[in-house]
Amino acid sequence: MNTSIEYALIVNNAYKVFGKEKKNRYWLPWKNKKNGQNEGDGSEKESTVTIAVDHVTFEVKKGEIFGILGPNGGGKSTLIRLIATLLLPDGGQIRVFDHDVVEDPMAAQRMINRVSVEASFFKKLSPMENLLYGARLYGVKGSVIHEQVKSILRRLDIPEKNIGRPMEEMSRGMQQKVAIARALLSSPILLLLDEPTTGLDPRSKREVQSFIRELRDMHDTTILLTTHDMVEADTLCDRIAIMDSGKVVALDKPENLRSLADRSNGHEPTLEDVFLELTGKKLVKETDMPI
Ligand SMILES: Nc1ncnc2c1ncn2[C@@H]1O[C@H](COP(=O)(O)OP(=O)(O)OP(=O)(O)O)[C@@H](O)[C@H]1O
Ligand SMILES: [Mg+2]
Repeated sequence: MNTSIEYALIVNNAYKVFGKEKKNRYWLPWKNKKNGQNEGDGSEKESTVTIAVDHVTFEVKKGEIFGILGPNGGGKSTLIRLIATLLLPDGGQIRVFDHDVVEDPMAAQRMINRVSVEASFFKKLSPMENLLYGARLYGVKGSVIHEQVKSILRRLDIPEKNIGRPMEEMSRGMQQKVAIARALLSSPILLLLDEPTTGLDPRSKREVQSFIRELRDMHDTTILLTTHDMVEADTLCDRIAIMDSGKVVALDKPENLRSLADRSNGHEPTLEDVFLELTGKKLVKETDMPI
């Protein structure tokens, strides 16, 4: 395994199972074996086992925008949560800037921040108030809080007059940008974005995408994002891992991935074609309705 600091993230054989087959060892007095009952005595095995992340290996270079593309239930969020130290892996190793997420979760946490699809805010409060609150949570020093928050809000192109408007009056794209901005308060050098643009209209989507690009270009942040959107993955990411049923089924630069698809029909292949060819499935999310 390469442990060089040239890598922001190293995922080596990561494995996560939900509903592990295990005996429930609790004791239920009313279902005791003394009564001659085996059923329901608390020692039966759980029947549903899901291998959410199935021996996944990849590395993300510093400053890279790395995409994880996959259908519902593919294991993307679970993988993000393992990296973010919110879940413990059942196997393998994950290192964030050379800190092992199991052995030294605090050190790994200091390097990362995660923004999930449903950003939680105080909706009645303004972006300024939400960011100030976030800054205090992240322990940003009092003297620099205001300046830092103002500069982040300027970068978001939020007009001065709107800085004090409640979040609930802002577009979802703008809210998502504020969520990403809030994550920046802790100066993460690895930003984990779980579906940053799902459910946004095309314009908001483009705004968030260009903001993500800007982050990488101006602040050298390494970005790991998940998406169902092949166009997004194609245009935004330096490299993409295609994940299905917990496994990485392909990993390469977008242009190289496209070359995996069949060109015999004369069309320039899309990532959708590649996904279909690799998994026999279509990469469509039901909730991704055209707006
Ligand atoms: N806490 C949990 N308990 C049990 N099963 C879980 C849990 N979290 C996820 N799973 C299962 O693990 C698998 C992977 O889920 P995950 O949320 O990682 O997929 P995903 O690729 O993020 O999907 P989506 O695109 O819908 O967000 C699914 O089968 C899911 O049902
Ligand atoms: Mg998910």
